[in-house]
Amino acid sequence: MSLPSLFSPLRIGRHDLAHRVVMAPLTRMRAGPGNVPNGLAATYYGQRTSEGGLLIAEATQVTPSGQGYPATPGIHSAEQAQGWKKVVDAVHARGGVIFLQLWHVGRSSHSSFQPGGVLPVAPSAIAITSLASFTPEWKQVPYETPRALALDEIPALIEAYRDGARNALAAGFDGVEVHGANGYLLEQFLHSRSNKRSDAYGGTVDNRARLLLEVTQAVIEVWGADRVGVRLSPFNLYGDVGDDDPIGLYSHVLARLAELDLAYLHMIVGRDGPGFDGESPPEIDDLRPFWRKPLILAGGFTGESADAAIRAGRADAVAFGRQFIANPDLPQRLRRGAPLNAYNRSTFYGGGAAGYTDYPALEMEG
Ligand code: FNR
Repeated sequence: MSLPSLFSPLRIGRHDLAHRVVMAPLTRMRAGPGNVPNGLAATYYGQRTSEGGLLIAEATQVTPSGQGYPATPGIHSAEQAQGWKKVVDAVHARGGVIFLQLWHVGRSSHSSFQPGGVLPVAPSAIAITSLASFTPEWKQVPYETPRALALDEIPALIEAYRDGARNALAAGFDGVEVHGANGYLLEQFLHSRSNKRSDAYGGTVDNRARLLLEVTQAVIEVWGADRVGVRLSPFNLYGDVGDDDPIGLYSHVLARLAELDLAYLHMIVGRDGPGFDGESPPEIDDLRPFWRKPLILAGGFTGESADAAIRAGRADAVAFGRQFIANPDLPQRLRRGAPLNAYNRSTFYGGGAAGYTDYPALEMEG
């Protein structure tokens, strides 16, 4: 099996990719003290690197208040940037391209993560009720009602993304992806269900899209648009978000992002994330006309369906999540039509090498 569309080259912004199998950003909750990525992370990302392949490193908080899960890495301290540098070096040693996903969880946090033990921030004071929050000690507790950000706090938030982008540049990454998906801060602002503001950041689609666009602009000022991507999940409901009119909202967002000349747009096709198992709404294709630059799709793809999506012009590249966790050499396996290792959900989050760096590559199987 050759999957010729999936294994054709693609230029995204400043980078030439040898193929279109992208590693999706995957939270693994294994950072060391100070939320510094450790040596095991360098091994893990190095194992998943292919010559000319794109990896998007896991969601990484740009500021301490942007953290909502234990042991997620940060990019707000010099030590974290140094830890990431080892990851980047491991990927570059094998000829890969690696972007960092810039993250702020907004209300998907708990006061026990917040400096000073204050409440997490959000567009509006609405708690998540369908999920439980973690604490730093891995306990599960109800989410608290967050504090609505004051209008005059928003510039500092944008600066936190800019600082994270600068630190990512210092760590040697090839680019950054703005995390605008999966129910976190930027999506909380985008979606009508979580944003009830009546100022310049709420109400109309223009206003709800404002923070995403301002953050993206700040990141572009650091990196140049040709090394910046944005990830969105238009139909997501995970984290108690959701929009009354996703096509209306996202046709606007995509048209505005298109003016910025980004390296790529990355969209998750499913309704629920992360790692959803549901059906993809067909409406995702209704958004294609609003985005003509490189488009990465993610969510439930196989090698065959990814190749077909690219052939049909529905996507330019496809990101794989769970299959990349279990198959360090996923591109090689897909190209050869080799069997895939099954993933083990119980080791997705937390722990050490088990379920992280010990999935075998084909060559190890002999
Ligand atoms: C995820 N996903 C995710 N998405 C994201 O934007 N940032 C992240 O850090 C994570 N973390 C994460 C961890 C784990 C363990 C899973 C399973 C998923 C979502 C992921 O990138 C991808 O969109 C989904 O997994 C769907 O793709 P697959 O797994 O069907 O190929």
